[in-house]
Amino acid sequence: MEDANSKGVLYKPTKKCLLLYLVCLLLLCLFNGWPRLRSPSNNPSTVQNSSSRNVTILLWHWPFNQCSSLQGDVCWDLYHVPGCRLVDQRSLFSSADVVVFHHRELEQGRQKLPLTLPRPKGQRWAWMSLEAPANNRNLKQFANVFNITISYKRNADVTVPYGEVLAKQAETPVVEDSSLNKESLVCWVVSKYKEWHTRSKVYIKLNATLPVKVYGGWNKKPLSSGDLLPTISRCYFYLAFENSVASDYITEKLWRNAYMAGAVPVVLGPPPSHYKAVAPPHSFIHVDDFASVEELGEHLQQLAQDKKRYSEYFTWKQKWKVTLITDWRERLCKICTLYNTLPQQRVYTDLEAWVKA
Ligand SMILES: *[C@@H]1O[C@H](CO)[C@@H](O)[C@H](O)[C@H]1NC(C)=O
Ligand SMILES: *[C@@H]1O[C@H](CO)[C@@H](O)[C@H](O)[C@H]1NC(C)=O
Ligand SMILES: *[C@@H]1O[C@H](CO)[C@@H](O)[C@H](O)[C@H]1NC(C)=O
Ligand SMILES: *[C@@H]1O[C@H](CO)[C@@H](O)[C@H](O)[C@H]1NC(C)=O
Repeated sequence: MEDANSKGVLYKPTKKCLLLYLVCLLLLCLFNGWPRLRSPSNNPSTVQNSSSRNVTILLWHWPFNQCSSLQGDVCWDLYHVPGCRLVDQRSLFSSADVVVFHHRELEQGRQKLPLTLPRPKGQRWAWMSLEAPANNRNLKQFANVFNITISYKRNADVTVPYGEVLAKQAETPVVEDSSLNKESLVCWVVSKYKEWHTRSKVYIKLNATLPVKVYGGWNKKPLSSGDLLPTISRCYFYLAFENSVASDYITEKLWRNAYMAGAVPVVLGPPPSHYKAVAPPHSFIHVDDFASVEELGEHLQQLAQDKKRYSEYFTWKQKWKVTLITDWRERLCKICTLYNTLPQQRVYTDLEAWVKA
């Protein structure tokens, strides 16, 4: 007894020290590792359990019939996402952890849900669409079917934006002169012009206060994909006007057309706070931030004449870089990244309400 007790007294502090040391080490690792894992979008809050088995994602049908190769370990090879098996063979249904359905084909009745197959316990069905609410129809029939949503919306289970900003590892100076080679003040590219679109009304008013150079099918000045960015790059401002005004609906008009070309985007879409949540700081001009379109026009003219203030719209490039998300495989791999954080049990009882909100 005496012996055992004295042993205990002797060993306790050593054990405590070891434990403390381990905890410190863990904290150190966490704090060193976390910032790099973080990005402004919804990254996993827990790190992938690398020792766990593969998660199998079954894509029931390819969106818009655009197939890509699923040969090899696609998620690891292309996006460094471990433990993710992407498949599109329906025969693997019973072993799938997640089955993904793209809405367009369901909506048109060209594809059907496998409602007669017994759904394995724990299997989740995912609803996927990158369209604005106005272009997601026939949703009523899908109440009480899906467990997860894959959408550009920030409150989706798997948020797949059209683009995102990532922090640069090291700050880089912005070398190019942002106002070099500018030929036009404001440019717009539009193929499907509809008078009733909010963006058309704003364009008409803006064009009355300053010259707006219009490209695209509507104006019989179509741009080939190779000409698009070089053309926009010669404009001080680019109208990144969404055709549909909806929560979080921010498309490649901003991420690609404006940021990649190096024109300052004038945005029309969801409220400014939605842009601020995802876009680089001081990188865009929001139509709603002006009392009138005339005031917006005046502001743009002043900025174009003030080299210093204009160039401030490019300062973000020192710290941030923009990446586009265009491959369906990348979006599907993201399910695995977030798999361990998905709600254990969830059913979208009213999918339509969720989509339209
Ligand atoms: C990781 O996966 C293994 C194997 O499936 C499991 O035993 C373990 O509990 C998991 N760990 C965590 C932290 O989820
Ligand atoms: C996980 O999937 C990849 C790609 O399909 C495969 O190479 C690997 O062997 C799988 N690992 C396990 C543990 O099943
Ligand atoms: C835009 O403004 C120009 C110059 O005032 C004018 O010639 C043109 O008709 C306008 N375009 C539209 C569609 O209103
Ligand atoms: C998925 O949704 C179905 C209803 O369609 C439900 O029965 C099932 O329990 C849900 N599974 C999970 C994992 O949430």
